[in-house]
Amino acid sequence: MYRVMGGTAALPRCRNLALNVNDFEGIARVALVNNLELVVIGPEQPLATGISDYLKAQGLKVFGPYQDGAQIEASKAWSKALMVEAGIPTAAAQVFEAEEAALAYLQQQGVPIVVKTDGLAAGKGVMVAQTLEQATDAIADIFSGRFGEAGRRVVIEEFMTGQEASVLAVTDGQTIRPLLPAQDHKAIGEGDTGPNTGGMGAYAPTPVVTPETMARIQTEVLEPAIATLRRRGIDYRGVLYAGLMITPAGDPKVVEFNCRFGDPETQAVLPLLDTPLDEIMVACIEGRLESLPPLTWKSGAAACVVIAAEGYPESYPKGMEIFGLADAAATGALVFHAGTRRQGDRTVAEGGRVLGVTGLGDTFETAIANAYAAIDKICFENMYYRRDIGYRVRD
Ligand code: AMP
Ligand code: GLY
Repeated sequence: MYRVMGGTAALPRCRNLALNVNDFEGIARVALVNNLELVVIGPEQPLATGISDYLKAQGLKVFGPYQDGAQIEASKAWSKALMVEAGIPTAAAQVFEAEEAALAYLQQQGVPIVVKTDGLAAGKGVMVAQTLEQATDAIADIFSGRFGEAGRRVVIEEFMTGQEASVLAVTDGQTIRPLLPAQDHKAIGEGDTGPNTGGMGAYAPTPVVTPETMARIQTEVLEPAIATLRRRGIDYRGVLYAGLMITPAGDPKVVEFNCRFGDPETQAVLPLLDTPLDEIMVACIEGRLESLPPLTWKSGAAACVVIAAEGYPESYPKGMEIFGLADAAATGALVFHAGTRRQGDRTVAEGGRVLGVTGLGDTFETAIANAYAAIDKICFENMYYRRDIGYRVRD
């Protein structure tokens, strides 16, 4: 039995099946039986365990890197070594497999400092420590075994200041085409306060990445990354997502790489794209991105505001009925479902982050206003969202 999900289930020509992302065989079967021409892998976890390799071996066209390339997100130590080899600007870092050595390095470096779990930790593996105590606790926490294999190694790195930006690029392993630059709000609270989340809102195209900075990101970050992967024999096709710190001097430095579309940046970036996305993806898979005409974009701006269940990113309630989805969509905003479920003819909240609402407009001001106007139509019990998304770019 397939469980019917919310969101895309309501779209025409869309059949929405809930499969386990780790069930490679089941996913391949559904793709083959339905003659699917393109399989797009969303999350990092199955990419890191080789879903693209598996599906390709079944003769399917898959958008998303193979297991080897997915290490760029799945292991921060591996990714950092790649950046060093490629000469990509990033925070200085050291990798440790033992607590004592990590603590000794911490004492020597002082604070602020950043302590990271090497492996995938669903956004919960990074501590930006302002005090030695926080950093010491973070190191102990990681080596406690709580993160399993992902916490076997700890990366300790220099604290960088500046504004964060996300540049998602598509690549066929040779040619790289960046998408419009975006910024997301990672913190749960207004004014970017409180614990980090998967992202509470995003907007594009962010002016913090100027055309000059974008050109530098292409030559100093994206091209060396792909060239170094290729030198290592890794054929990387899909999205290469550079999480960047734009330093106060305007220099781009890499915070991390991801091997997939970013959430919620994608909900702000893709609505501005005019070139059909499937053409881009197939060109990546077939290694002919270079011959694709330049990507075309709508003018104006987009802003996505995430609606979560109160309590997220810690524990949160589920099962609340969501009202007003049709009214919200009728405003012209795009309502993306992140954690919802259809229950009969009702839609209920099923995740920490429940919905993403994207407004478009000629300016950031109108895009943001349009997102919030749509949100005003939506309600559910324990609904939470930030009211200040895009404060940096509001006119
Ligand atoms: P990551 O998973 O590596 O992207 O880290 C999650 C978040 O922690 C980033 O988006 C930043 O907000 C913060 N962060 C990570 N590394 C650094 C760093 N070296 N300096 C400052 N902040 C960082
Ligand atoms: N918004 C951050 C991410 O997708 O990892």
